[in-house]
Amino acid sequence: ITVDATTFALFGALGDLALRKLFPALYQLDRAGLLHRDTRILALSRDIGDSAVHLDRIEQALRRYVPAAQLDEETLSRFGARLEYLTMDFRNAQDYTALAQVVSPDLPLIAYFATPASVYGAICENLAAAGLADQARVVLEKPIGHDLESSRVVNDAVAQYFPETRIYRIDHYLGKETVQNLIALRFANSLFETQWNQHHISHVEITVAETVGIEGRWGYFDQAGQLRDMIQNHLLQLLCLIAMDPPSDLTADSIRDEKVKVLKALAPITPERIGQQVVRGQYVAGSVGGKAVPGYLEEENSNAESSTETFVALRADICNWRWSGVPFYLRTGKRMGEKVSQIVIHFKEPPFYIFAPEQRSLISNRLIIRLQPDEGISLQVMTKEQGLDKGMHLRSGPLQLNFSQTYKSSRIPDAYERLLLEVMQGNQNLFVRKDEIEYAWKWCDQLIDGWSRMGDAPKAYPAGSWGPVASIALITRDGRSWYGDL
Ligand code: BG6
Repeated sequence: ITVDATTFALFGALGDLALRKLFPALYQLDRAGLLHRDTRILALSRDIGDSAVHLDRIEQALRRYVPAAQLDEETLSRFGARLEYLTMDFRNAQDYTALAQVVSPDLPLIAYFATPASVYGAICENLAAAGLADQARVVLEKPIGHDLESSRVVNDAVAQYFPETRIYRIDHYLGKETVQNLIALRFANSLFETQWNQHHISHVEITVAETVGIEGRWGYFDQAGQLRDMIQNHLLQLLCLIAMDPPSDLTADSIRDEKVKVLKALAPITPERIGQQVVRGQYVAGSVGGKAVPGYLEEENSNAESSTETFVALRADICNWRWSGVPFYLRTGKRMGEKVSQIVIHFKEPPFYIFAPEQRSLISNRLIIRLQPDEGISLQVMTKEQGLDKGMHLRSGPLQLNFSQTYKSSRIPDAYERLLLEVMQGNQNLFVRKDEIEYAWKWCDQLIDGWSRMGDAPKAYPAGSWGPVASIALITRDGRSWYGDL
């Protein structure tokens, strides 16, 4: 791979995301030889004081968040030499004069906004006024707005200065290795596509369970809630990649056009159906991984009155020929029993049945796509139990591909490494187009509106559990159950 030299300007360089994810990802790219030798990184933040102290914080973050086996002094010092720190008030046009002086006029500028979305418009305006917008690419972190209207305000403000072809909206799930593998799995194997519809698939589950709580982000999270924080973006993106029609090629717009068609076909969940189709939950004190943890309302800086949800389970229906009658069950929550993200495709039973009746419940194939941890793909198939004494007893077993075991040499890169590399190469495939964000908001807005009209309070679930019992009822009502030991 050849990657051109760029100036990478990171707005919000001392924030949690930058320290925890972005600098480690840039370091890994450097270590892998994927940063051009002339690439420079400008760390921009409003924190005043000695640059050396701030740069030291970045180095400390690398030492903390990059696994020890991948920390080497040579890369650290090369990486350190690329870095420059600048104090800026992002809303103040005058501060961009100093920025313009350190941005090389010969290199393309990548401006990464790891700041609240409310400042994106001001940054774009100031970049343009300082003559830095021509040819620059901008990278926008989520959340972009908190509903359709506010997301339009942000997108429109950015669009005044940048064309869509130079706007990169991040959904870091799209950078996860297994998520990209979904495209390979579906469209590089003829095996699946003929089965990938309502004739052969009975239902689909998407689970993104987290063990973390609010991690000091109560202020942000309480305004958002799990629907806005996770479903509006990550889970709907996964749903789109599973449900979309084959794109005619791998260009960004071909893929995004297909995703948008799926979002447009999502059936709205009307207030009358909310009770049957959606469960909101909020964790109370419990224990995760053997450690006692407080409830959501007892977290640092919390407001004991909040009715924000930390868990959502819902049934989504896609109204088109391919998926009519195939429910997509989505489930995500904080402080659940295990960190696991997986997609399970449940195929229908065979059309005719020749085995012993008591084995009937066993018979159906499942494709399990595990995003994290233990990235891999497993196809559950039926076989006969071995042994002379077993007769025609069936059992379900996996045809398994575990990425790290099968391809031992390769480290699975973090999603941000992939995404940063794609921005540097100017590829938009793994980024979200404006209309995708808007259709996703439109669908979520009607749900949020329905919740507030119905006065739907979240149901309690103990930290460390799999969510409110109502989330089990949500799927058993349709004669199904959540897959696995969850
Ligand atoms: C972020 C959310 O987008 O994704 C967080 O804001 C969440 O609340 C995180 O914890 C989950 O990402 P991952 O990669 O750990 O599954």
